[in-house]
Amino acid sequence: MVVCHCELVNDRTISEIVSGQVLTVEEVTDRCGAGGRCGGCHESIERLLAASETRVRVAV
Ligand code: FES
Repeated sequence: MVVCHCELVNDRTISEIVSGQVLTVEEVTDRCGAGGRCGGCHESIERLLAASETRVRVAV
């Protein structure tokens, strides 16, 4: 599923970038460009980051 339509970045790419790390939206933008233009995808990116943080907390 495309998360950032401005940069054509999908959820799989963002999940691979996050890969168990605790990152901010800005750090995701720095790594793949998602969220760096209109900002309309920030909520979706934040949801992916929150899901990743939950997995990190469960794994610890
Ligand atoms: S949809 Fe991601 S920056 Fe516009």
